[in-house]
Amino acid sequence: MYVGVDYYPEHWPEDMLEKDLDGIKELGANMIRIGEFAWHLMESTEGSFDFSFFDKVIEEAKKRGIDVMFGTPTATFPAWLAKKHPSILSKDEYGHVRAFGGRRQYCFNSDEYNRYAAKITEEVVKHYANEPAVVAWQIDNEFGHEGSDWCFCEQCHSSFHQFLEKKYKTVEELNERWGTIFWGQTYNEFSEIPMPVPTVTTHNPSLKLDYSRFRSESVNGFAHRMTDVARKYAGAHQPITTNVSGGFFDKAFDHAENVRPMDFVSYDNYPVWGGLTEPIPPAAIAMTHDFNRGLKDQNYWIVEELMGAQGHNVIGYLPRPNQAKMWSYQAFAHGCTNMLYFRWRGMTKGAEQFCFGVVDQDNRYGRKFKEVQSLFSEILPYENVLNQKVESDIAVLYDYDNIWSWKSQVQSASFDFNAELMRLYTPFYRHNASIDVIPADRDFAKYRVLLVPVMQIIDDELAARLTSFAEAGGTIIFSFRAGLKDRDNNIHFKQTLPGPVAELAGIEIYETEALAAHQSVPVQSTDGKKAEGRVWRDLVTVTTADVLYKYADEFYEERAAMTVNSFGEGKVYYLATGLATTDLEPLALNLIQEHGIWHAETPEGTEAVKRDNHLFLMNHTGIEQKVMGESLPPYGSKVVKLT
Ligand code: GAL
Repeated sequence: MYVGVDYYPEHWPEDMLEKDLDGIKELGANMIRIGEFAWHLMESTEGSFDFSFFDKVIEEAKKRGIDVMFGTPTATFPAWLAKKHPSILSKDEYGHVRAFGGRRQYCFNSDEYNRYAAKITEEVVKHYANEPAVVAWQIDNEFGHEGSDWCFCEQCHSSFHQFLEKKYKTVEELNERWGTIFWGQTYNEFSEIPMPVPTVTTHNPSLKLDYSRFRSESVNGFAHRMTDVARKYAGAHQPITTNVSGGFFDKAFDHAENVRPMDFVSYDNYPVWGGLTEPIPPAAIAMTHDFNRGLKDQNYWIVEELMGAQGHNVIGYLPRPNQAKMWSYQAFAHGCTNMLYFRWRGMTKGAEQFCFGVVDQDNRYGRKFKEVQSLFSEILPYENVLNQKVESDIAVLYDYDNIWSWKSQVQSASFDFNAELMRLYTPFYRHNASIDVIPADRDFAKYRVLLVPVMQIIDDELAARLTSFAEAGGTIIFSFRAGLKDRDNNIHFKQTLPGPVAELAGIEIYETEALAAHQSVPVQSTDGKKAEGRVWRDLVTVTTADVLYKYADEFYEERAAMTVNSFGEGKVYYLATGLATTDLEPLALNLIQEHGIWHAETPEGTEAVKRDNHLFLMNHTGIEQKVMGESLPPYGSKVVKLT
């Protein structure tokens, strides 16, 4: 098992190297991750490859029994390359060139960039292919992060035309499927088709969805080309990964496809970043782990685990003593097997002066050092437990086509995909049930409960798989707008909503209403409980389903706000409006019990995860809590063996 830090030896005077590595050893680390932003240090002028700096670092690390994850440096290219080939720079939606000076500002479709990036990747991987201490490769750094997934340059425009031509074969086919007859947008040739850059009002929804798919192909195409290069030259002992950043549902690339040719998934875990005044909720952090585990349906690494406050310009919340350690326990509980902290020491120069590390600018081994040190020594004995597969009977289904479709037409001003996913995830999380977060095209037959948030794109194939799932005894929960659209991002014609899943849900929807942020509608359950619906409301008429909630405002008293339908051996719920997660907790508990799924009742803000015969207990609150008979101090965490 590897534990360690992200180390940037090139940021410090060379005579600090040995002392730093001694300190890293003292921390209990057995791995450093290096190299991912150091292209210029490896190729200061074109073709002058020189790895002597890192040779020395690796030599010193080896003396101390520390292994290395090496990052290929393509996330930050050298200035000479940008000067020689300005076409490598990406452009924003206004056509402005993204200047050299930040990071990740290259165009994935630039032939020049692909050529140079492949070359440096080849050289560095070849150089260390036989180095036993280099035990893994990280490709690039955080694909698509910080807006780098989008580019609107000329290279992308012509690649987009090729993408469309490959997909539709004829422009007539594209015209038909996009419905370009609307507003007279019929194209005579592929080359006439715009990118979705600013225009008056809005672009065609099918065009927008195809541009997102094209972005996904662009990002993943580059990632896979670099992975192929690394694979070709890497030593047999060197698996390949890349680090997934947060905000993955806001990005324009399919993450499961991104990591497909890689050996394992790595995640960068920052429960608080920038100006946030408090961390994201515990359930939201948990979901990010479940998502990363779901990418390959296997356990994963964390290669950047937050220790200090972080931000480029604005910083906010400082993790309280032991809170970062507790977040690490949470990560291990959810399937993380190896962990590196970001970063050994905060940097005094450059853009990340306020991204604090295990050690600060005073170079003292203080409170944070001791916290990480204690985590490393406490967690190592549990290696066998951590390596076991996480088993879940509940899965959340997502589909990037659907997410991008929503993103380009939010419909309700208060709509947020992440919030809608969490609306279904949180009630089950609150009962500490294990949940997988997986792409909808994954085989989901083994699960007992499927959560299907705001799946407005449902094609016949997905509808058929969901139908078989319910027939065989599974439970499905849909939320509003299910089954509205087809894969071309068009509304299903001649179908009553929820389209291909109407029979499955046993309902029909004739009218719907978007609710703004300040709006809510009253609802009442059939047993008299009052609640509120937010964000959206489908006005549901039952065909074979039973009503669980009805609207309680005038005009719509006869319309259902939540229903359940018996279908085959299973049950299908339809949540037509944004009920609060607390209103859904009793239902979640019923389903968990009905299906015999492991769960535990713990105080709000605490978490219990069962792995094999161990319990991981986490206190996300600033007060002492009793969790499953164990006392946890503020932000405390521990593993308890079940007898
Ligand atoms: C990550 C990134 C690191 C560093 C860190 C700062 O997103 O991979 O390179 O920028 O954030 O918190």
